Amino acid sequence: MNWLTSVWEDREALSRAAAAELADAAAKAIEARGRFDLALAGGSTPRRLYEILASEYYRRIGWARTHLFWSDERYVPESDPLSNSRMARKALLDPLGITPENVHAMPTFFPDPEQAALAYEQTLRTHFGGGIPRFDLILLGMGPEGHTASLFPGSAALEEKMRWVLPVRVAAEPPLRLTLTLPVLNAAREVFFLVSGPDKAAIVRKILSLSPDEVAPYPAARVNPEGRVILFLDRAAQG
Ligand code: 6PG
Repeated sequence: MNWLTSVWEDREALSRAAAAELADAAAKAIEARGRFDLALAGGSTPRRLYEILASEYYRRIGWARTHLFWSDERYVPESDPLSNSRMARKALLDPLGITPENVHAMPTFFPDPEQAALAYEQTLRTHFGGGIPRFDLILLGMGPEGHTASLFPGSAALEEKMRWVLPVRVAAEPPLRLTLTLPVLNAAREVFFLVSGPDKAAIVRKILSLSPDEVAPYPAARVNPEGRVILFLDRAAQG
């Protein structure tokens, strides 16, 4: 794994460091291609990063040229407290007033989540012009057993080579999710993992000590795009 590790005192410092790197990624992408295609992480760790982006990077990132997607979503109404897009709306989108045309949330209103996954693939196809979506940056978290996005150990979704978005049933609350697949995660120009807290120290140590042929059981360890991967850690997660 060609991951860079960036260790910070606490979640606040980790979030500030990630915000600065994200702003650089945005500037590079907008300079090179006229837009910044960013996939947001779910869970609780990224909230502070989103709050910092909203409060301190309003003028330091070209938000009008930034398109926001998600790396996964819980299959609940957007009003549900467990919704990843709800958390991002409150922490980032609403405070910034990002134009709705630039916000591409994973749909959770279809009766059948397979329809939702296909609809999101169409959203990606329309935005990225047909070939595999190449995000400028994908933000990801990491679960204590090594899951990332909603790709959990042992899931058949880990072996998916063609689909870009899959509905999955996972051993977490809520169980039904939509997730980007490894082909899309590994097509990213950059990936930032945001990992904080003592409950992640064991999995971080395990993943950083893996030899190449040992990565399979840990979905996060299978994120190895050609581009840069930065693992943002706080001291508690470093162990
Ligand atoms: C989700 C996330 C998931 C998350 C990890 C870490 O929808 O829950 O995509 O992969 O990033 O579970 O979650 P925390 O940041 O809350 O520890």
